Amino acid sequence: MDSEHKHRISLANESVKRSKKKAEKDPLRPVYHITAPANWLSDPNGAIFYKDRYHLFFQHNPFDYQWGNMSWGHVVSKDLVFWEHFPVALTPTPESYDKDGVFSGCCVDNDGVPTIIYTGVSPEVQCIADSYDGLRTWSKCPQNPVISKPPQKNLVGFRDPYVWKERNKWFMVIGSGIKNKGGTVLLYKSEDLKNWKYLHPLCHGEGEMWECPNFFRLGDKYVLIISPHGDVQYSIGTFQDDKFQPGEWFPLDLGGEENFYAPHGFKDARGRYILWGWIKGGGTQGYPWNGVLTLPRVVTLHSDQQLSINPVPELKKLRGEQFRFSNINLSQDSHNILKDIQGDCLEIDSEFECRNDTTLVLDIRCAPNLTEKTSIIFDCAKKKLTCDDKSGKFPWGNFGKKLSFQIFLDKSVVEIYMNNHLCLTKRIYPKQLDSQGLNLAVEGGNALIRHLAIWKMNSIWQESN
Ligand code: FRU
Repeated sequence: MDSEHKHRISLANESVKRSKKKAEKDPLRPVYHITAPANWLSDPNGAIFYKDRYHLFFQHNPFDYQWGNMSWGHVVSKDLVFWEHFPVALTPTPESYDKDGVFSGCCVDNDGVPTIIYTGVSPEVQCIADSYDGLRTWSKCPQNPVISKPPQKNLVGFRDPYVWKERNKWFMVIGSGIKNKGGTVLLYKSEDLKNWKYLHPLCHGEGEMWECPNFFRLGDKYVLIISPHGDVQYSIGTFQDDKFQPGEWFPLDLGGEENFYAPHGFKDARGRYILWGWIKGGGTQGYPWNGVLTLPRVVTLHSDQQLSINPVPELKKLRGEQFRFSNINLSQDSHNILKDIQGDCLEIDSEFECRNDTTLVLDIRCAPNLTEKTSIIFDCAKKKLTCDDKSGKFPWGNFGKKLSFQIFLDKSVVEIYMNNHLCLTKRIYPKQLDSQGLNLAVEGGNALIRHLAIWKMNSIWQESN
């Protein structure tokens, strides 16, 4: 690493350290989701499994809890569950090709050498950096920028490289847009990660520009995920002769762009595709942090057209004290079976049946006097899942049909997974610290709760300070 970059990295680390204690005091700061030690975090970047460790990076402003000075923060884990913060990996170098930001990108194993491919700004160019000390420190490549200009003139944006190896060649997609045509993903090919040949647009569609493309193989299909300055979308299709034939488009998360954006994934050691998304929203009352990553999610094919999204099963390791219920018939006269359970860091799992098209309502973060709460609503007649102001359709729920959910509450983050298929992510901002109650009820008809389990959840952080 050159001395200028080293100096910038140490300023960044000192700045984060100064704000860490204060950020941690925020009672709404999640404890089992990845956050920066302090200050701004946004897109997950550069996930890789290397020498028995998972490394994950993220867009990070070490100097403020607003967006700016875009750098790469870094966390490390042995198991995708417990994490440790590492020093900042990359920061902008003044007066260079990345002076205005080290933007999003990915990380690959280049014949044993971990190599980051990122966008330097401005203008937007593609750069690489490598590490020879187990991903601790990074050297920007002397040949940077390895792609110094977009392949044509009429483009809107040229950023967020995503690289994979196939048929012994490196392939890369870059987020862009073609003026008057719409959001676009550009496809490149290379032998050595340094010399890139532009092939053609992989795909284009609605919106002005597509950010943070992910493109990967699942079974005999290929999946494209895009962040189009709107709700994150995916399409499953085929990839032949370097051409992608997309299918229908679907939202990746029902929480919408304000809650879930710019996901980034990778193939783990077992060949699973795992991704994280950026959950937007900051600390309140000036606590110096902003942005959370979702739990790691396994992405599988549900059908030829649709994906299933599930939390990685390893997260069971975070479970602490447990409460269990089974075979409970809920009607409108039932009392609240959860009245003795309190918590703001919980996993709540259930399997239930809706009878007579009932609506099952689970309130979390309820104030003792019920002045505030967050309602999660399973409307079996409308087949609609709602959390707060966000909702989406679920395709099942006929009379007597089994439904299931897995809900993760982490202070001010809610993730709802339904029927091992759909998910909804939501930031919430309870005002009272004692809003820790739960309430389970039905509206109309009744419901059979086959199983319900609640666990208090532990922190993911391994560091001692
Ligand atoms: C998405 C994004 C990317 C860009 C990064 C900059 O949130 O706009 O396109 O690389 O954020 O922080």
